[in-house]
Amino acid sequence: MPKDFLKLTDFSRDELDAMFRLAADLKAKQKRGEAHRLLEGKSLAMIFEKSSTRTRVSFEVGMTQLGGHALFLHSGTTQMGRGEPIRDTGRVMARYCDGIMIRTFSQEAVEELARWSDVPVINGLTDMYHPCQLMADLLTVIEHKGGYEGLTFAWIGDGNNMANSWINAAAVFGFRLQVATPEGYRPDAAVMKTAAEKGADIVYTSDPAEAVAGADVLSTDVWASMGKEEEAEQRRQAFAGYCIDSALLQRANRDAIVLHCLPAHRGEEITEEVIESPQSVIFDQAENRLHAQKAIMATLMG
Ligand code: CP
Ligand code: NVA
Repeated sequence: MPKDFLKLTDFSRDELDAMFRLAADLKAKQKRGEAHRLLEGKSLAMIFEKSSTRTRVSFEVGMTQLGGHALFLHSGTTQMGRGEPIRDTGRVMARYCDGIMIRTFSQEAVEELARWSDVPVINGLTDMYHPCQLMADLLTVIEHKGGYEGLTFAWIGDGNNMANSWINAAAVFGFRLQVATPEGYRPDAAVMKTAAEKGADIVYTSDPAEAVAGADVLSTDVWASMGKEEEAEQRRQAFAGYCIDSALLQRANRDAIVLHCLPAHRGEEITEEVIESPQSVIFDQAENRLHAQKAIMATLMG
């Protein structure tokens, strides 16, 4: 098992399946009010260089429920924001804490932090990947569909960190993925190439209708991710027709479910009607950030 949780393809399917089982077990215990203090007395440093609601709260509450403690560190109020190198921050944090969660821009920075830290480093989102989100997403699919095997997944929208993570997931878990992005907004070329080399069952198209045909799970995300705010208007034009609305949803399998990692921009990548429809499992998905991450932390830091 790798020391760190940096991207899904670092793990085997068996290792990640074990985390889903642990997540379900911890979720059941929490619902029953049963103690599950697997990280008693342990501390998690949470480094944020970008905004967050779900990631921050779910990691912090998750550590509390596991009997530990989490520290919120924003780069702007630490020495990192004043240029202290990540290799020094990593070495020092590892002397105090039992794990580090980081949300930042470059995947390379997270990898460097992991190299210089003796404790597990968890990727809380980079421009390249959002692996904790995928664990929550698949836990939600397992709950609603009884598993992920044999299902067809559709990604509609930007070829961003979430799209790259779905491609990694398809490569690890072996399910079919149908990706629709506008030309010029395709997922990362190296990520697509690696998945293809692993024999992943993925099709890429620029037609959302083609991507949702036969799909059991539809997923999307904002058109302008954190750091791309200045491109928002240009992207609104490029992504016209990539909205998951009721008409597009009707083209998927009848009992398809809809995921969105949130925050959502209603009327852009998804409509209010779809978010509030019975096919939406978006708020179960948001809740599952907590349970999935508790399993990741208990596995790596326990
Ligand atoms: N989905 C997600 O990561 O949400 P936050 O940006 O609120 O953490
Ligand atoms: N792709 C989005 C995900 C937010 C959780 C972003 O990076 O801003």
